Amino acid sequence: MCDFKNHLFHTPVLVDKVIELLITNKSGIYFDGTIGGGGHSKEILKNFKDKGKLIGIDIDSGAVNFAKNNLKSFKNKTIIKKGNYANILEILKKEKIKKIDGILLDLGISSYQIDNPERGFSYFVDSPLDMRMDNDLRKNASDIINNYSKTELIKIFKKYGEERYSRIISDYIVKKREKKVIKTSFELRHLIESIIPGKNKIKSVSRIFQALRIEVNKELENLENFLKNFVEALKSGGRIIIISYHSLEDRLVKKYFRQFEKGCICPPDIPICVCGKGEILKIISKKPILPSKDEIKLNPRARSAKLRAAEKI
Ligand SMILES: C[S@@+](CC[C@H](N)C(=O)[O-])C[C@H]1O[C@@H](n2cnc3c(N)ncnc32)[C@H](O)[C@@H]1O
Repeated sequence: MCDFKNHLFHTPVLVDKVIELLITNKSGIYFDGTIGGGGHSKEILKNFKDKGKLIGIDIDSGAVNFAKNNLKSFKNKTIIKKGNYANILEILKKEKIKKIDGILLDLGISSYQIDNPERGFSYFVDSPLDMRMDNDLRKNASDIINNYSKTELIKIFKKYGEERYSRIISDYIVKKREKKVIKTSFELRHLIESIIPGKNKIKSVSRIFQALRIEVNKELENLENFLKNFVEALKSGGRIIIISYHSLEDRLVKKYFRQFEKGCICPPDIPICVCGKGEILKIISKKPILPSKDEIKLNPRARSAKLRAAEKI
């Protein structure tokens, strides 16, 4: 078994692009809302001049401890804490910071989380069905599988997994759990594989695991709450970079960036603007930026990454 204390925590994705697009002031204040092992943060810190501050947040206390250790040589320039990036405004207020120069969100899960057999994220290792990034959450994946109604299961599998066999799978889960509680990743994987026709069973397994992870960790709610508020935190000229790993996240990011770029929210049939909302954001990446083939070869987990960047006007 892998020793997770010494495990390479996570290989950061699109690092050069992140640095190029994020840093506009080498003595500025930056917020890494998903610090993970501190891979991106370390590169940001290396780019600082004598001044500069980085606030690093992660919902996973294991990540926070790892990042603190990884970035200990930058101790006087960092504040690293457990927290939810959705609470960006409260976090900055607590640190008495008014406006910042840049924000990075690198969504999804880290290699440390997915490879750790105790966490239950992977369907390639048999482990308890947990999937909580934040150990303080009360509900884990097993609680959802064993207690949600059939209708609720169908809803989350459809909405967060975009799984066409959601109904059949939910039906079977409900039947199976009446006889025996579904406790492990392999129990769930085998159950799905036994009911799905055809060759692409593993795709359904992957979609159901994705849906569960999103539901357990309230990933889309957190992202949407963040997107509603982050512009407040940025200085004029400050930048936001978001790297997402599936279309549900990317769609939300695109929607909010476009809305802030457009500004006015008046109905199109009103001749004069009455909402008074001006443009707040300028989108820098008209199309999402993707990792190169070389990067994907070195780090296959980068393959689904999409980076979007914008600047506060
Ligand atoms: C892909 S990893 C980030 C890796 C990081 N960029 C690095 O270079 O090591 C995503 C991280 O986001 C964290 N995370 C997920 N949802 C979060 C939330 N709502 N608030 C704070 N951190 C969150 C996860 O625990 C995980 O450590």
